[in-house]
Amino acid sequence: MNILIIGAGWVGATHAAVLASTGHNVCAYDVNKEKIADLESGEEARIERNIYEPELAHVIKEHKSNLKFTSDLKELEKFLDTTDVIFLCLPTPAHELELPPEKRSLYIALKSLSESLCKRNNKTQSKYLLIATKSTTPIGTAELIKQKLEFHGVKDFGVGSNPEFLVEGKAIENSQNPDRVIIGVSSTKDEELLKEIYRHLSSSKFKVCSPKDAEAIKLLANFELFSRIVMTYQVTGRFCELIPGLTFENIFAGLTGDERIPKWGHYTSLYAGGSCFKKDAENLLRTANQHDSHYTKEFLKMVIEGNEDQLQRFYERAKKEAKITFKGKRIALLGTTFKQGTNDVRGSPSLPLTEWLYKDGAAIKAYDPKGGEMYKNTFKNKPEEKIITVCHNMQEALKDTDACIICTDWPEFKFITQHILQLKKPYLIMDGRRCLAKDYKELNKAGFSIIAVGSPYMPG
Ligand SMILES: NC(=O)c1ccc[n+]([C@@H]2O[C@H](COP(=O)([O-])OP(=O)(O)OC[C@H]3O[C@@H](n4cnc5c(N)ncnc54)[C@H](O)[C@@H]3O)[C@@H](O)[C@H]2O)c1
Repeated sequence: MNILIIGAGWVGATHAAVLASTGHNVCAYDVNKEKIADLESGEEARIERNIYEPELAHVIKEHKSNLKFTSDLKELEKFLDTTDVIFLCLPTPAHELELPPEKRSLYIALKSLSESLCKRNNKTQSKYLLIATKSTTPIGTAELIKQKLEFHGVKDFGVGSNPEFLVEGKAIENSQNPDRVIIGVSSTKDEELLKEIYRHLSSSKFKVCSPKDAEAIKLLANFELFSRIVMTYQVTGRFCELIPGLTFENIFAGLTGDERIPKWGHYTSLYAGGSCFKKDAENLLRTANQHDSHYTKEFLKMVIEGNEDQLQRFYERAKKEAKITFKGKRIALLGTTFKQGTNDVRGSPSLPLTEWLYKDGAAIKAYDPKGGEMYKNTFKNKPEEKIITVCHNMQEALKDTDACIICTDWPEFKFITQHILQLKKPYLIMDGRRCLAKDYKELNKAGFSIIAVGSPYMPG
């Protein structure tokens, strides 16, 4: 099939690469010329400086013959003559939800796309095509898209919702073998088109529903996951911080021994970051606000705020419990990405922590195996830029610091105890991921003070 992807970010580039690997002819269009040039180059280093995802560069390189990345509208228009399905993989940030549709990225892109769609097949628009959203959108967006396209004169098309569930760091793996494929369609013709695209998957994975159901499933699924994490932060994790003698790992093992209580989400950390959980919950809250649903709104709000509180509380514990004054201190920030396996720093706890450390007068030595560059770029031309040094390795970041904050669960951070033991004391370890849990006793005995999520303060 001929597939056009609009938006070649984490979702679009991954989807394009995986569909090309299953034999489809794929063209991915994006307005970011620099990103497109890097993706089209097929060079691993250039691809990964934009999007680091295990195997992504490799799959793109392997399937160059039927995978094209372009920022040229003319090339997109040529491809449209034979396109069977268009996937919209555009950004849908929470801050745009308050804007009228015309001012949101998705609809701005659609306006330009509709002009191109009207030109296809020598302006006859004779070939039917399906436009499916992979972006996470408010409930009812597919309907709105249909109206907008019709308004702009587009003909012979269907609109569906085929939400994406990939997890960054495992994007290729998830996309090649998803748990389920939500096929949100309004006709059997559209259902068949989407099923044909995913013909390499078992049909038992297909969940056919309306576009509205599909949009709701994506938002509600993310909220289930988000609320489970925040519940662990605010209840299980908090009890383990407040009541001396409780050990988070023991409580975790005991709880999840019940098969009805899933392991996923029952870990404590400093923040549930990334570009999706918070904004998808805000998206639901916005919908709830339009209805009479007091507890729904309060519950949604509590989860969003509970996540923010977790990070603030973690940072404040350094001042309240360890009595640290950050002014003039050098802090090693270990992990700038929102999770391991990616270079994505969107929604990462490292960003607010950097702002707070700047306000409190500290200097930062940051290290991340993949996300150092993205982190640095986030603060380009901002006041925080001058307090940040991005280091090449973890030893360099730890050298001559007064405290370290572990923000990301990169596997290498589990093995830094021996390096920390060499550092000059007094020294504060702030473990936002419980990466060093197995060594807390040893580090504490050696005189290091520890603040860890899910443990009471351990003074050195
Ligand atoms: N990243 C994830 O883990 C993930 C997972 C599931 C769903 N989603 C959803 O998928 C959507 C995309 O997320 P993402 O992480 O890939 O975002 P992204 O920011 O990485 O990618 C979006 C891309 O769209 C491009 N773009 C913006 N305006 C454009 C236009 N007018 N025409 C063409 N291209 C344009 C941008 O340049 C960017 O490359 C969002 O709705 C998100 O909520 C993301």
